[in-house]
Amino acid sequence: MKYLAPVLRDGMKVVAGSASLALGKELARAIRADLVDVAFEKHPGGFPDGERYVRLLASVAGEDVVLVQSTFPDAKIVELFLLQDALAEGGARRVTLVIPYFGYGRQDKKFEAGEPVSARAVAHRLQIHADAVVTVSVHNPAVLSFFGVPARDVSGMPAIARYLRGKDVDLVLAPDANAERFAAEVGGALGVDTDFLEKKRIDSFTVETEPKALAVRGKSVAIVDDVISTGTTIATAAKILRDQGAKRVVAACVHGLFSSNALTRLQACDEVVATDTLLSPATRVSVAPEVAAVMRP
Ligand code: R5P
Repeated sequence: MKYLAPVLRDGMKVVAGSASLALGKELARAIRADLVDVAFEKHPGGFPDGERYVRLLASVAGEDVVLVQSTFPDAKIVELFLLQDALAEGGARRVTLVIPYFGYGRQDKKFEAGEPVSARAVAHRLQIHADAVVTVSVHNPAVLSFFGVPARDVSGMPAIARYLRGKDVDLVLAPDANAERFAAEVGGALGVDTDFLEKKRIDSFTVETEPKALAVRGKSVAIVDDVISTGTTIATAAKILRDQGAKRVVAACVHGLFSSNALTRLQACDEVVATDTLLSPATRVSVAPEVAAVMRP
């Protein structure tokens, strides 16, 4: 395994952006580093025009710093630029950038003429003040090459498995072909069977999932995906499971975006679970142990 972060040593610092405060705190605890306090408003009320502000409230001069910030929503990307600049101004020795949820990762290529490769556009700018990058369950690991500095991805699926362990899950289901590897990882960790569905996306709020007979009558099933956005993918899979007599349906993802009333759409599920790469009412488990693991010698 290749270790990207500095070998842990006393006095290492963690700086967390406002998108990733909870995870930053967990990570600091896990790697026994100091969490640097950051002010996100110059004065109460912030900037009325909505511009971001950051100020490091402790010295980082000569320090190895782990900077943690998800790039969602867009304003957090600007905040991340500011944090990176503050670390450079403050004389940080080395910065390992942890991006728990890499927003724009899904536009990983030019699908149509005239489009940008958005993942590359964001990565190029973030690598300016980063010595190494760690992402978590990035949509396509190929985007790591866009960073131009050593970068690796850490799977968030072990965290999902940790949460589901002991919760009597009989089957782990992938709601589409892309999620098969996620279901395999979680099912393998839990020691239960896996299955998958085939999905075709029609538009942002419509998917078509191939009907398929599943051995789920009276069973407890966890549907696992990397991202839940509108919830359409999982809600469609949950309906198929219910129609076939599943007793309990849990929806689990690493990144809970929950756009456009997704949680309402997911009411067909008994429980919705997400990690802390993004904070939401569904956040139940932290990926801090997985991220910390790549920072140990
Ligand atoms: C797609 O490839 C992803 O893995 C997810 O399946 C997708 O982003 C989920 O989107 P939604 O919740 O809007 O169906």
